[in-house]
Amino acid sequence: MLRAKKVAIIGAGNVGATVCYWLAMRKSCREIVLVDIVEGLAKGKALDITQATSPEGSHTTISASCEYEAIKDSDVVVITAGVPRKPGMSRDDLLMINAKIIKEIVEKVRKNAPDAIVITVTNPLDATTYVALKVGNYPKNQVVGMAGILDSARMETLISEKLGFGFGQVRASVMGGHGDDMVPLPRYSSVNGVALEDLLSKFEIEEIIEKTRHGGAQIVSYMGTSAYYAPANGAVKMVEAILEDSKSVYPCATLLEGEYGYSDTINGVPVVLGANGVEEIVELPLNLNEQRLFAKSVESVNNLLNTLKKSNFFEE
Ligand code: LAC
Repeated sequence: MLRAKKVAIIGAGNVGATVCYWLAMRKSCREIVLVDIVEGLAKGKALDITQATSPEGSHTTISASCEYEAIKDSDVVVITAGVPRKPGMSRDDLLMINAKIIKEIVEKVRKNAPDAIVITVTNPLDATTYVALKVGNYPKNQVVGMAGILDSARMETLISEKLGFGFGQVRASVMGGHGDDMVPLPRYSSVNGVALEDLLSKFEIEEIIEKTRHGGAQIVSYMGTSAYYAPANGAVKMVEAILEDSKSVYPCATLLEGEYGYSDTINGVPVVLGANGVEEIVELPLNLNEQRLFAKSVESVNNLLNTLKKSNFFEE
């Protein structure tokens, strides 16, 4: 018998609640449990979202809890808990505080839903994904970070805005860490198969790359807090790929063990997502400039990981 699919979402803030909302509206799973240390927040949002989905005829049930026993038998756990950035802050400024939060959460997730595929969303994304993998002592495939889908979506939007056509038809590709050194790849971007480099000038493409890199900060400067609709959508796409075992190719944060020439670090690369989480890493034949940019991104992430290691974060 096919077992009912269950998704746990840790953190009932803006991203967590929006992931819950979309999974329920799209009827992507049978059951969702929303976990937050503020139980009332999780309970209120679960009720509100349930009432939103009823007219849609959704069969998804949503419960809320502050206890991790509630996540038992989850197929996927999405970790969104943590502090979002404020204007003027980089994602990296959140390192110590969010790494500690993730550590505490992962210990409970590993205990209560040991086989679930874990999707991390909390910033700084690549570092929190590494923390989750190491603290939970997970195999590489079981923990994957959400960022590349978001960054690629931002690049896609900027491309169609610049062109004035091709809305919804742009496929852009962004590799690298989810930080200022991310690596937008115009060479792997197209508008319904038409190469981007045949549609825009070098200067226009450079402008799009810069704006993509600062897309998150732009929203923080408007709202005073982080984006959540597009980040949540990235996580929803990943949850669905795993639940449906669709073997979809998405740029995601994953542990590198020799791929692209790097080891013991997390970075954003195209992966095949299926029921077993990261089932394969796609190694693109990067040109020299792309390799240089990717190296810089790896170095930025490694600087964060070294800060954690030097503070004995993994020994405590
Ligand atoms: C952003 C945050 C969520 O890029 O990292 O919007």
